[in-house]
Amino acid sequence: MSKRGRAIKPQHGTSAAKGRSAAKGGGAPRPVALVTGAARRVGRAIALELARSGFDVVVHWRSSRADAEETAREVEALGAKSWLVRADLSVVAEIEGLFGVVAELVGRLDLLVNNASSFYATPLGSVTEEQWDELLASNLKAPFFCAQFAAPLLQASGRGQIVSLLDSAATRPFPRYLPYSAAKAGLLSLTHGLARALAPKVRVNAVAPGPVLLPEEYDAAQRAGAVDATLLQRAGTPEDVARTVAFLATGPDYLTGAVIPVDGGRSIA
Ligand SMILES: NC(=O)c1ccc[n+]([C@@H]2O[C@H](COP(=O)([O-])OP(=O)(O)OC[C@H]3O[C@@H](n4cnc5c(N)ncnc54)[C@H](OP(=O)(O)O)[C@@H]3O)[C@@H](O)[C@H]2O)c1
Repeated sequence: MSKRGRAIKPQHGTSAAKGRSAAKGGGAPRPVALVTGAARRVGRAIALELARSGFDVVVHWRSSRADAEETAREVEALGAKSWLVRADLSVVAEIEGLFGVVAELVGRLDLLVNNASSFYATPLGSVTEEQWDELLASNLKAPFFCAQFAAPLLQASGRGQIVSLLDSAATRPFPRYLPYSAAKAGLLSLTHGLARALAPKVRVNAVAPGPVLLPEEYDAAQRAGAVDATLLQRAGTPEDVARTVAFLATGPDYLTGAVIPVDGGRSIA
């Protein structure tokens, strides 16, 4: 096993993307974003919106290989360069490997988006140690170690940023999802702590979605309940979240330690 861990398979999206990392006309190189869990759903929307906003994108995936390849194709169709990198983020050695690959293959990193997450109901009385470990690993441990391994690259960037995906559950815990809610609360604390630890070179912010893309297994009653908990009485979209991430990435650069709710008012309802 290499020092940097295992099971890391870097791939370029397609050969069509090669050589496209510099802006047209030989100007400054495009900034590079790494989006964890970018194969599907909200992560894919973020990867595409960042590509539209001028970033080349490292598409991280764990099990959704075909979807990740589709994300990479769509990133490239928008004129950006993409790289595909696999890692199980519950394993610190694989996180180290992921950033080793980014350093070697890409050579820079300007934005880390901590999006990957596991999410499922864990009613009190039935929670197993395995569930606790999985939920805490993807939602809290992984963002911490991603930030730690990304920090030297982000500091070298001169305009490095981290954006983490929280949840309204970070401040109003969901009673049937306590390990997930506690992990997101930890990630909120980590957002503030990293903003302090990495200042002034690296800015660290978060987006806290409400119901933008409900779990595929939710039934009609669960969907109605999630929408009913919002002030706006409707679900949002992955694009609402993605555009907010892009706003943080490209907008005013005097924000750090900020959390933007994109939740239809759920957190104050
Ligand atoms: N969807 C919503 O309405 C909503 C609401 C509030 C907050 N959020 C937050 O927004 C973010 C995106 O939401 P989502 O619903 O799109 O997420 P999701 O579909 O539940 O998960 C995104 C990806 O995370 C990856 N992942 C999970 N565990 C991993 C691990 N151990 N190692 C590496 N990758 C792992 C999976 O990649 P593979 O498929 O490749 O395995 C998965 O596709 C999450 O942080 C979520 O908590 C979403």
